[in-house]
Amino acid sequence: MTTSLLKLSFIPGLTEVVLREVAEYPELLVVESGTDFVYLKGVQDFEQVKKFRSITNAYLVLQSAELNPHYISKHKSILGGLIESVIVDKSQKFKSFKLSCAGSDSAEVREIEKYIKETFKLIPAEDADMKIHIGKIGDLWEVGVQVTSRPLSLRDYKTANIPGAMNPTIAYAMNSLCDIESAQSYLNVCCGSGTLLIEAGLLNPNIKLVGFDNDGIHIAKAVQNIKQAGLIKRVTLKNADVLDAPDLGTFDIIVSDLPFGMQIGKGNDLSALYQSFVDYCETALSSDGTLAVYTTEHAILEPILKRSKFSITKTLGLKIVTSVNSYIYPKIFICKFTK
Ligand SMILES: C[S@@+](CC[C@H](N)C(=O)[O-])C[C@H]1O[C@@H](n2cnc3c(N)ncnc32)[C@H](O)[C@@H]1O
Repeated sequence: MTTSLLKLSFIPGLTEVVLREVAEYPELLVVESGTDFVYLKGVQDFEQVKKFRSITNAYLVLQSAELNPHYISKHKSILGGLIESVIVDKSQKFKSFKLSCAGSDSAEVREIEKYIKETFKLIPAEDADMKIHIGKIGDLWEVGVQVTSRPLSLRDYKTANIPGAMNPTIAYAMNSLCDIESAQSYLNVCCGSGTLLIEAGLLNPNIKLVGFDNDGIHIAKAVQNIKQAGLIKRVTLKNADVLDAPDLGTFDIIVSDLPFGMQIGKGNDLSALYQSFVDYCETALSSDGTLAVYTTEHAILEPILKRSKFSITKTLGLKIVTSVNSYIYPKIFICKFTK
């Protein structure tokens, strides 16, 4: 008998962060991991996995050499068993399904779809609640069902968005690489709509949170999201420009998702802005503190960091698909003062 596995998917490059989150649950055993997936066994209950903050999606899957569409059309209860395990969660309200599978026009695939419709009273839809896949992974076939109707990377607190807002799983990753559990104070420079601040507040209930941005509309959106997250009493927000080096005290952690392209004001050049940011952090970070910076413009930032009082202690290179189906390759830099 093939045993079911849980497959976690995430932004390529976050493997280390995901494995660290998985390790918080000793009963979960990692079967295999790659740049954007981890397979687990030992999952008793999906509720555990739904709490993960570093992953995009989780799927209940089966793998074997024979699980091709033809085989599944002849042994439909294999897929039925997976759907039943997922559908028991009434909080998810599954009403529609989408089957992604090569040969979608074939008689076998149509037969599988008919089975899902009739057995589970789900209707086919493009933007469906229940996502089902059958596909080849290396030498094996995999059949899987996404365990939640919405991706786990979507957060209920995100009610206000700005162009270039950070993916919350990356914000979680940056914060988790800063030893945030033991820090007392946290500053988010260029805080935008507040994703980093909120993920930090959710990770450490006692940390003092301060953020600033030079765009009042972005700050208003941050207020909206932070209220929705229930953290408004814990966060101080300021309208300030990093070029003015605002005096807000010193912090154990400074993080920033630095602006790029259209996000800087006319007449500002990115190198000058990044240099001012690094100079500012040299004065506002406590001597044993951690600096975490995220940017797609790492070719500009990295030489500035290398000339600064900081040493880069870790770099994560990420690969992110954009809304126009191309890729960007941002990096996260974790830095400490050079001893
Ligand atoms: C990439 S966005 C940050 C997005 C944020 N992490 C979020 O999730 O919403 C960069 C932010 O830098 C801000 N910004 C640009 N130039 C700035 C400056 N000179 N001083 C302070 N903030 C600045 C922009 O207003 C924008 O909100």
